[in-house]
Amino acid sequence: TSQRKQASRQRFVTEFSQCLFDFVVQLLPTQEELAVKEDVRKLLERLIRTIEPDSRLLSFGSTANGFSLRNSDMDLCCLIDSEDRLSATDMVTMLGDLLERETKFHVKPLPHARIPIVKLSLDPSPGLPLGIACDIGFENRLALENTRLLMCYAMIDPTRVRSMVLFLKVWAKRRKINSPYKGTLSSYGYVLLVLYFLIHVKNPPVLPNLQQIPPLRPISEEETHLQGHNIWFFDDIQLLRQRWQSANTENVAELLIDFFRYYSRDFPYSVGVASIKNGLLTKDSKGWQSDLDSPRYNDLRERNRFCIEDPFETDFNVARCVTKEGLYTIRGEFMRASRILASRPERAIVALAQLCE
Ligand code: GTP
Ligand code: MG
Repeated sequence: TSQRKQASRQRFVTEFSQCLFDFVVQLLPTQEELAVKEDVRKLLERLIRTIEPDSRLLSFGSTANGFSLRNSDMDLCCLIDSEDRLSATDMVTMLGDLLERETKFHVKPLPHARIPIVKLSLDPSPGLPLGIACDIGFENRLALENTRLLMCYAMIDPTRVRSMVLFLKVWAKRRKINSPYKGTLSSYGYVLLVLYFLIHVKNPPVLPNLQQIPPLRPISEEETHLQGHNIWFFDDIQLLRQRWQSANTENVAELLIDFFRYYSRDFPYSVGVASIKNGLLTKDSKGWQSDLDSPRYNDLRERNRFCIEDPFETDFNVARCVTKEGLYTIRGEFMRASRILASRPERAIVALAQLCE
């Protein structure tokens, strides 16, 4: 019977892997959607240049890192190359006025937010049946770099990494645990959880640690640092793929099953910090402790229920918005998913539907 069980598990895993792949493919943005978004970026860039001629408008986040789903929002970052540039606050105010006058976008400038941005949206049209949502920020160079890091990880093993990340993003949205404003985790946070799992938990690892591979030639502090943060990582993916191959041969389904099990049972939420750069760290070592009772630590505790270190801004907890209730819900969802997959329904497609109910 153990042999029969083994065979049935193998059958499930193979079928589930194929299902995941087919499911994810139909959620990818269409060529048309990508083309419309690029047109929108160019149009906005042209308009911004009437205010700051030396500016460039670059795309970051999922539209630029290979983890984008159909109708995902557009994250844009404006870089101004001149010395005496306007402040982000002034840019947001002026750009807000300009876009309101010149375009059909619904415009909401937030000049006094912690990170000043202009929020834009466009009503549905034939090319964009669900409209478009877009945030424009300024000088957010670290976000451009972490987008490039995520893109490099996606390129190392496109099938397994992208399928896992895209599935997880859909799953988190459908299960309603993807709203930092409501105490759960951002998409960026979920992507980091997947990468942490593939780099540091899986043995043998599915991905190398790009931030710890030594550079091929000596590089200066100036080249590696941005705003006081070390942003160096090995980015010659073509060379890497020639010289490095993962010894891990598990398919997407096996990895996903293990992922849910790890985050429902094994990750040490109360004391641990997931860091894609440095592996598993402790809250204590980062001064993010959460088990102190004094009221002075209350705020610290509330913000550090769940800890995910940003790959470059290592003093920044990407999961700082996750509340006590939010974490409880997220862990509950990891357990639910784990339970569904462990019960191995007759058909893989049924498991998939149940997961994303
Ligand atoms: P969807 O919009 O859901 O498709 O996901 P996304 O991949 O665009 O992720 P998200 O909107 O959460 O974040 C977009 C980008 O903003 C990320 O790729 C990061 O570059 C940046 N970002 C988001 N949240 C944080 C954060 O907490 N810290 C830092 N440093 N960057 C962040
Ligand atoms: Mg986004």
